[in-house]
Amino acid sequence: MGNLHIILDAQFGDTGKGKIIDFLGIKKNFCFRFQGGSNAGHTIVVNGQKFFTHLLPSAILNSSCTCVLGNGMVINLNDLMYEIDTFERLGINCENRVKISENAHVVLHLHKLIDSKNNKHLGTTCKGIGPCYADKMQRIGLRIRDVLSPDSEIKSMIRKVYNSHNVIDEPLFQKDVYDVIRFRDYLEKMVVDLKFIKNVFSDTTNNILIEGANGLMLDIDHGTYPFVTSSNCSIGGVFTGLGINPTDLKHHHTEIVGIVKSYVTRVGTGPFPTEQANDIGRFLLTTGQEYGVTTGRNRRCGWLDLVQLKYSCDVNGYDILNLTKLDILGQLDDIYLCTGYTPTDNKPILLRFDSWKTLYDKRPYNMNDCTTWESLHPNAKKYIQFIESFLGVPVKYINTGKERHQLLIKN
Ligand code: IMP
Repeated sequence: MGNLHIILDAQFGDTGKGKIIDFLGIKKNFCFRFQGGSNAGHTIVVNGQKFFTHLLPSAILNSSCTCVLGNGMVINLNDLMYEIDTFERLGINCENRVKISENAHVVLHLHKLIDSKNNKHLGTTCKGIGPCYADKMQRIGLRIRDVLSPDSEIKSMIRKVYNSHNVIDEPLFQKDVYDVIRFRDYLEKMVVDLKFIKNVFSDTTNNILIEGANGLMLDIDHGTYPFVTSSNCSIGGVFTGLGINPTDLKHHHTEIVGIVKSYVTRVGTGPFPTEQANDIGRFLLTTGQEYGVTTGRNRRCGWLDLVQLKYSCDVNGYDILNLTKLDILGQLDDIYLCTGYTPTDNKPILLRFDSWKTLYDKRPYNMNDCTTWESLHPNAKKYIQFIESFLGVPVKYINTGKERHQLLIKN
């Protein structure tokens, strides 16, 4: 029986999924993405070199892993081809390893235009995600399978989309038509149907990774609506976004992994009760390098909110957690966790923890070199154990630094 890991961001995105996906991806031969588009951004660091992906799953670095973009995704073909080209230039072979569901939708330049015009108040990434999903629901969207049609049909389908939005912009229309048609031949080799996906799941020898993007609190149904993205980043999206069912999961040893940053960050607008718009927030921003991979925006930073995280656990049913950036949090003098809200004015109730900045004899403590639970600073252990007992979910993986190997596995 193969292993299946479902990796979901438990917060507002940017929790640092890249490393665990890369780590688990080493042992996988298939990696799936089921929702979102170029709004997501992964950073993977290998030997000090940074890799960025927006559409391709992070397991792309594993040359024996086939990466599949599911039907639940919205795909900007320019972005996809750019990423493939970048990796190919770096010597990472992508040909024959990247597959796309025929039912995924295509993000047009038109969608980006609408997004940047209409959605500023939501602080979207302006990648056309919401407008593309809206067209999907309106049943006027362009799917990957449509891209394989003759030129004239592609043109009339794109024209239909423009007409539905009452947009008359001939240069933009021509650009959209050109960009879809020019990638058709390349794309043809990559397109797969549901049967392909079902066969992967029914083969019990396959080791599979399913990778979520964005984060639970940005889920269109379960997040902080309307300050959310336009897809289901939660567990439900796995089934609709790939066309699989619970029986498909039963063919494998399945584990749902929630990715939790040791503090919270959020980009764009929307509620964030534990936000630290002060020196603490600024410290986390600069030390944690909390700048958006997709838009370069500063991320808002604050304390870990266990009430929010408990909700995330309830929705997604994580079996285990991966706690990221523990080394960054530990460099503060005092550390706080939100354990509840005051009944009268709904203010966060914060519990203080001692930091793991120094050892008891005041020597500086460097978590980066820590590879075992036993050698972890006692204060860091207390912080983790409190989280585990509050949530009732074990923390199995702990990121102790930004390098690929700086990952502690707790047994
Ligand atoms: P959209 O997904 O571009 O429509 O943006 C909707 C909201 O989700 C905005 O607040 C974005 O900043 C946020 N968002 C979307 N994707 C990500 C992500 O991968 N990380 C963090 N925030 C995201």
